[in-house]
Amino acid sequence: MSLYAIGDLHLHFQAQIKARGQLTDPVWRNHEQVFTRNCAGLIHDDDTLVLVGDHSWGRNLQECEEDMKYIMRLPGRKILLRGNHDMFWDAKKTDTLNQYFGGKLLFLQNNYYPYTDENGKAYALVGTKGFTFEGPFYLDRRHRITGWDEEAEEHAKKIVEREAERLRLSFEKARNDGYTSFIMFLHYPPTNILERDSVFTRMAEEYGAEKVIYAHCHGESRFHDSIEGRYHRIDYSLVSGDYLRWKPMKVL
Ligand SMILES: [Fe+2]
Ligand SMILES: [Fe+2]
Repeated sequence: MSLYAIGDLHLHFQAQIKARGQLTDPVWRNHEQVFTRNCAGLIHDDDTLVLVGDHSWGRNLQECEEDMKYIMRLPGRKILLRGNHDMFWDAKKTDTLNQYFGGKLLFLQNNYYPYTDENGKAYALVGTKGFTFEGPFYLDRRHRITGWDEEAEEHAKKIVEREAERLRLSFEKARNDGYTSFIMFLHYPPTNILERDSVFTRMAEEYGAEKVIYAHCHGESRFHDSIEGRYHRIDYSLVSGDYLRWKPMKVL
């Protein structure tokens, strides 16, 4: 009855990789096989595995078919969160996806999933893709930030607002059903390199989430872009696949 999480599988059994540059690090070599092996030795059928976004390079469900089959073959109950690369997943059509996969894959968006730990404590697994302004930042010769693209920052604020509404919906549905313990999932990190907190960290605090799990930061230079460890009595963890070297993190 354990809970595991990992993100950014970036599967491409069918789709061509557009951003090939990102995936040249040796950690990506045969990562699908490495991940399968790691899951087999770790996750049991009564465990839950949350995949924290960027599942597939496919641009639509047809191009993701093999990737989804691969995920379905993994052990445990699989819950998927939306990442910025998940073009197959229209946020407004999450119900359709849930119906299509008939419980074999569970899509977390504007809803929540229950989880009970081995001591019988009931949690709601809540989440949304999230968003945060990621630049471009302007640096001086010593790599200090001297400014950033303010137009892009304004645009980002709107996306952050929409994602915050979606996250609140997820929390509210769970709370209305009587849940008081929460694990919160985001694809994007909860804060960017300029921030100490955000609407997402404040919402985690408001509802009393025990943990915040996020992904999206991959490549060594990005592993420490956001909050890690204990902050305002909440545990923050980055679970991008290359950071974890394809071994899912045990959350509970
Ligand atoms: Fe990613
Ligand atoms: Fe991402």
